[in-house]
Amino acid sequence: MERATVIVAIDGPSGTGKSSTSKAVAAQLGLSYLDTGAQYRAITWWMVTNGIDIEDPSAIAAVAGKPEIVSGTDPSGPTITVDGTDVAGPIRTQDVTSKVSAVSAVPEVRARITELQRSIASGAENGIVVEGRDIGTTVLPDADLKIFLTASPEARAARRSGELKGSDVQQTREALLKRDAADSSRKTSPLAKADDAVEVDTSDLTLQQVIECVVTLVEEKRAGK
Ligand code: DC
Repeated sequence: MERATVIVAIDGPSGTGKSSTSKAVAAQLGLSYLDTGAQYRAITWWMVTNGIDIEDPSAIAAVAGKPEIVSGTDPSGPTITVDGTDVAGPIRTQDVTSKVSAVSAVPEVRARITELQRSIASGAENGIVVEGRDIGTTVLPDADLKIFLTASPEARAARRSGELKGSDVQQTREALLKRDAADSSRKTSPLAKADDAVEVDTSDLTLQQVIECVVTLVEEKRAGK
């Protein structure tokens, strides 16, 4: 029997096509979409804007509960606000990108954001695609389908520098590998593949091929195969 709701967890490092894939799959299947990286970026933006020392985990922990972060989950126009301010643009700056790993490694930040993510997922009536680093392992360990996207460092750096127009591929590669190393080695819920996740290497696939692959996997799950 076809199931009414489905929860899909899509994890992996940056530049593997997670966001584009997750959005397109959600739109195609009529599901909600949650970008958990945007939530970590939003809380980082708030810390920076409020002058919190991001080198000091206890200072971050002390105020982790303060900002109100709201995510709009329509895959055709996802939104993110902090205390009512639209931060979709500011959270993508180089400054926030370079600080997000330190902020998101603080356990109090993770506890706060994880709770928010679980409440959004449980409220999504038709189901949801949630993308991040620890969704299959920690946030939604009972997800119906877990995907882990990978790609070679070269493919990932080339994609990221294509998105960040005019950036140097070599520099992008180094920054990206540095952020992955930090995200994978932190103590609390690091970037990791869940044992029951399906790994998809996207290095030699087009975005369309990755989307088709994931849509097929979701449809099989929904059909109870
Ligand atoms: O997906 P992204 O590049 O926008 O994510 C930004 C950062 O947020 C990433 O470097 C690590 C952190 N993150 C996390 O720790 N856990 C998640 N589920 C998603 C992102």
